[in-house]
Amino acid sequence: MSLDKTIASAVAKAVESLYGIAVDPASIVPQATRKEFEGNLTVMVFPWVKAARKAPEAVGAEIGNWLVANEPAVASFNTVKGFLNLVITPSYWNCVLRTIEETPAYGTVAPTEESPLVMVEYSSPNTNKPLHLGHLRNILLGSSLAKILEACGNRVVKTNIVNDRGIHICKSMLAWKKYFDGATPETSGKKGDHLVGDCYVSFDQHFKAEVKALMEQGMTEDEAKAASPLMAEAREMLRLWEEGDPEVRALWEKMNNWVYEGFDVSYRRMGVGFDKIYYESQTYLDGKAKVLEGLEKGLLYKKEDGSVWADLTNEGLDHKLLLRSDGTSVYMTQDIGTAKQRFDDYPIDRMIYVVGNEQNYHFQVLSILLDRLGFKWGKDLVHFSYGMVELPEGKMKSREGTVVDADDLMSEMVNGAREVSMELGKLDGLTEAEIAEIAETVGLGALKYFLLKVDPRKNMTFNPRESIDFNGNTGPFIQYTYARIRSVLRRASEAGLDKADYSAVEPNEKEIALIQRLSDFPDVVQEAGRNYSPALIANYAYDLVKEYNQFYHDCSILREEDAAVRSLRLALSDATARTVKTAMGLIGINVPERM
Ligand code: ARG
Repeated sequence: MSLDKTIASAVAKAVESLYGIAVDPASIVPQATRKEFEGNLTVMVFPWVKAARKAPEAVGAEIGNWLVANEPAVASFNTVKGFLNLVITPSYWNCVLRTIEETPAYGTVAPTEESPLVMVEYSSPNTNKPLHLGHLRNILLGSSLAKILEACGNRVVKTNIVNDRGIHICKSMLAWKKYFDGATPETSGKKGDHLVGDCYVSFDQHFKAEVKALMEQGMTEDEAKAASPLMAEAREMLRLWEEGDPEVRALWEKMNNWVYEGFDVSYRRMGVGFDKIYYESQTYLDGKAKVLEGLEKGLLYKKEDGSVWADLTNEGLDHKLLLRSDGTSVYMTQDIGTAKQRFDDYPIDRMIYVVGNEQNYHFQVLSILLDRLGFKWGKDLVHFSYGMVELPEGKMKSREGTVVDADDLMSEMVNGAREVSMELGKLDGLTEAEIAEIAETVGLGALKYFLLKVDPRKNMTFNPRESIDFNGNTGPFIQYTYARIRSVLRRASEAGLDKADYSAVEPNEKEIALIQRLSDFPDVVQEAGRNYSPALIANYAYDLVKEYNQFYHDCSILREEDAAVRSLRLALSDATARTVKTAMGLIGINVPERM
C-alpha cells in the first residue's frame, strides 16, 4: 500500500474510533506538508469538526495522538488550525523505498480485459500539405495522452482520421498535372508530402495570378475568383473524383500514397504511431447514410432545396447543414460516418478528439449530433482542445515563410542539440554514431518537453533556444540528470560495490525528501490521466530531478564508507532513474544512458 493510502486508512480508523463516524479512506487525500512546517504529510481535519464538537486544533490533536499510538508509520505530529501535520517514522521511509524498488513498472497500472476502452484521435491531417508546428503540438499531446491513459489502467486505441478527399487535394493534383512535369518524390528528391505541398502552393500562386489578371480587366475580386478557370477545373476534378473517374482516382491514389510515405517518416522520427487509421474517403458515405437515417427518424429536417439540416436551437445553438442541396457532404458529415465506423470496430467507452481550439464549435455540435443519432458516448465525447503555437518572430524561416514545417523544425532542433552539446563538451570522445544518436534524443527531447510542459489550452511560443538550455525546466536538463545517475550506477557496478541490506538505515532529511517525491509518482500519473495533463508528468519529472540533485549535492554515494548507507543511496538513485525514465516515456521522450 502506498504511504498516502496507509495514512488515509489509518486516519479513517482514527475518526471512526474517536467520533463513531464512518469515513471512506478514498475521501482523505494527504498532501505534502508545506516547507515552513515540520512534518511530511498533512491531513485536513475540518470535515470531522462538526461531529466531534471540538475546535479544529483539538480534533487534530486527538487524531494525531491516536495515530502515534496505533499507526507505526506516524512518529509524531503538530497541528496548525485544522491542519494535522504528520512526521513519518524514518524507518518507514526505508520500507517505502524498498517497495518502490520491488515494484515493476512503478507508477503505472496495467490494463485488464475489463478495463474501459478509450480511443484517442490525434494528428488527423489533410493530405494536401506536410505536417507543421501545430500538428507537432497535436501529435505530441495526443500520443502522450494515450500513453498516460494506458498507464492509468485503460485499454487505449490510438487513431487518426485522414481528410484525404475534397477540393484541397484536387488543387494539388491539378497543379501537379499542369506545372510539375511528372515529378515524383524519386525524381525530385523531395519527401512525398513536401512535393504534394509544393503543388498546393503552386496552385495557389497560379490562382492568385489569374485573379489579379482578371481584376486588371475590370472584374471585382469576387467576380474574378468566381470566374477563375483554374478553380473551375479543380471543382470539375472533385466532381470526377466523386463519380469515381478512374484516371482522377488513380492520380489521387498515387499522390496520397506519396503523402502517406512522407507522413510515416515524420511520425517515425517523432516516435509516434497509430493502432487504426481512418480515411475520410472511406467514411463520408457512411456519414451520409447516417444523416439520411436521422432524417427518416425525424431527428433532422430537409429544406425545399433538398439540403439536410439539424435544428440545434433547443440546445442554444443554430441550425447546422449536414448535406448540401446537391447531396454532397460537409466536414461534419464525415465525422458522423467516422464515428459510426469506430463504434462498429471497437466497444468504445470514451472517445477523445485532440483537435485545436478553433474547432470548439464543431465538436460541441458533433457531440449533440452523435448523441441525437444514438451513439452512447456521443454526449460525453471529449474534445481535448489546445491552443496555437508559434515561433518567436523571425527565429526560424519555414519553407514558404508562413507555416513552420515539422520536418524542418525537427532537423533544426537536432542540429541545435549537437552544437550546444559540443560547446559544453558533452560529446567529447564519442563516435560519430553515438553523437548522432545523442543529438537526436536531446533535440527531440527539447522540442517535446517544451511543447508538453505547459497548459495545452493556452497559446504558446515555442522558443528553440530556451528549449535546449541544459539548465532549467527543459528536456535536456532532465535527460542530462538521468544520464548522470546512470553513470553513478555504472561506476558502482564496475567497482563491484555489492548491495547490502539497508533496512536498518534511518534516511536523512535529503533522502526522505527524495523518497517522498518518488512516492508521489503513482498519484501524479493518476491525476494526469484524470485531468488529461501531460504537463503534470513533465513538471513532476523536473521536480524529481531537482530533488535528486539536492540529494546528490549533499550526500556522497560512491565514496560513502558505510555499505548499508551506500546501498540505500544507490537504491535511491536507481529508483529515481527508473521513475524519470517512466515519466519521460509517458511524454514520449527518450533518456540517454550517457551524455
Ligand atoms: N483534418 C482536419 C483539419 O486539418 C482536422 C480533423 C480533426 N478531427 C476530426 N475528427 N474532425 O482541420
